[in-house]
Amino acid sequence: MMKSFKNEDKEYIANTYARFDLEISHGKGAYVYDINGREYIDLASGIAANTLGMADDEWVEAVHAQLKKCQHTSNLYYSEPCVRLAEILCKRTGAKKVFFGNSGAEANECAIKVARLWGTENKGEEYYNIITLKNSFHGRTITTLAATGQDVFHKYFTPLTQGFLYGEANNLESIEALLKENKCCAVMMELVQGEGGVLALNRDFVLGVSELCQKYNVLLVLDEVQTGNGRSGELYAYQCYGIEPDVVSTAKGLGGGLPIGACMMFEKTKDTLKPSLHGSTFGGNPIACASAVHILNRIDDKLLNEVKEKSAYIFNTLNGADGIESVSGLGLMIGIKTTGDVSVILQKCMEKGILPIKAKNKLRLLPALNIPMELLVKAVEIIKQVASENK
Ligand SMILES: Cc1ncc(COP(=O)(O)O)c(C=O)c1O
Repeated sequence: MMKSFKNEDKEYIANTYARFDLEISHGKGAYVYDINGREYIDLASGIAANTLGMADDEWVEAVHAQLKKCQHTSNLYYSEPCVRLAEILCKRTGAKKVFFGNSGAEANECAIKVARLWGTENKGEEYYNIITLKNSFHGRTITTLAATGQDVFHKYFTPLTQGFLYGEANNLESIEALLKENKCCAVMMELVQGEGGVLALNRDFVLGVSELCQKYNVLLVLDEVQTGNGRSGELYAYQCYGIEPDVVSTAKGLGGGLPIGACMMFEKTKDTLKPSLHGSTFGGNPIACASAVHILNRIDDKLLNEVKEKSAYIFNTLNGADGIESVSGLGLMIGIKTTGDVSVILQKCMEKGILPIKAKNKLRLLPALNIPMELLVKAVEIIKQVASENK
């Protein structure tokens, strides 16, 4: 038993998070334990960050090995872990260059800078507008908030960065109208709107946007902060659609629980960033990169197939179940609309020893990609039971 620390948390930590009443002590794989030693099946993996769950033995070893060698160098010198990571990312995606930051918001900031730079160089300075989607989420910095197409996030922080236009998800005409009427350099979107309620975009819409980007000579920028790194069942979700993006940002699961973000630039954008135009003290940090190299090497075809199988199991088991209105998402990024109050259902799930989270008015599952099937089965049964008892 550990001593409770939640009162000190309330006293000293900025009051920005509505925390659940659960004090986490440690974990192993898909299990986490609270300070009283109570065991839970983790269905959120640190909001899609702990790709291989908690304290995976081989991952710990890979991170330790780097920690003992060199924890940080600065970007004034060459350092191998970030090169190896960039090489793997390029070889597995077709990207040509990578910039590393420390979070999803930073990866998107870089993507936005790349889009504007590309616009200036290829179309003219006035082509700075970026179309994003209503109900999107791209981060918490002032610029990524501006990119986020939800008014609720904008309140109190205006004036935001200018130059973002909001199109409708799954409505190609709305995107084309914006492209026609404004001087744009890019369309930027999540393929599954995660924070927006785990809504996967329609395939035809995704393919259509990709074509519109060609037609209007603007970049296709994909925010794969949450969908990336195996979560969709492919390494990056765009690989499910057979499209060719110009920029892909990612973070979360890339570091397996350590902070890292990456902005990948493809053929059209590979030479956009030039000396002194962007930078980050910790970007490309050796520990985070060694961690990410290990994570990517573990996300092989076998694990990706497991993700698809587990996803199919969840969809098949919960679709049409008593108290469940709908199941949405892709891979192991799943939203469950219950007929009963989602907050009540979530609370009951926690009482029964499983830890889903919420997205808008849905229950959200983002388990570790390697969660053992028997734990997933157990957790899904609990969700089914709780949804049915509280419909
Ligand atoms: C799609 C998407 N983009 C960007 C972000 C911001 O990432 P971070 O919190 O690492 O800055 C998130 C976080 O939830 C996200 O889901």
